[in-house]
Amino acid sequence: MKQLEGRTGRLADLGSGDGRLVFAASAAGLQCTGFEINSILVAYARSKARWKGVPSSQATFVKKDFWKTDLSTYNNVTAFLAPGVMDLLGEKLLKELPDDARVIACRFSFPNWTQHSSVGSGLDQTFAYDISSVRSRLGNVPYSVMQ
Ligand SMILES: C[S@@+](CC[C@H](N)C(=O)[O-])C[C@H]1O[C@@H](n2cnc3c(N)ncnc32)[C@H](O)[C@@H]1O
Repeated sequence: MKQLEGRTGRLADLGSGDGRLVFAASAAGLQCTGFEINSILVAYARSKARWKGVPSSQATFVKKDFWKTDLSTYNNVTAFLAPGVMDLLGEKLLKELPDDARVIACRFSFPNWTQHSSVGSGLDQTFAYDISSVRSRLGNVPYSVMQ
């Protein structure tokens, strides 16, 4: 959440699990969507939202594969996934996100991206990236060419 301070607008949490990140970000004023493929976790997060009284305008949980979702309307993205997918995820985000987007990676960083900041250490480390800086550091070369 420290890495999202001052941020406004829409947030996509890729793999939202029990919804903890979505609840924290929506409490901070962001309009959040949690994408999750595990239907039990989606049901759990939805019932937790009802129990907490969080309106769907602030926090929505969808049972959807984020790889098959266009993320271009989100200016904030959080992801706590696995090291093996970060490279491909970086490619997708560079293609789709607006220039003013911020991406927060939890535990596993993006291999070819220069971070804006990092908070925490070890298993609790998070990495923040500003898409405009990442794009200019990559020299505006299409990401796939960098591989
Ligand atoms: C490490 S957990 C993180 C959960 C939560 N964001 C947290 O911080 O506690 C990763 C989650 O991503 C989900 N996931 C993995 N691949 C996905 C995909 N392609 N689309 C949606 N969810 C996915 C998994 O089911 C799992 O719940």
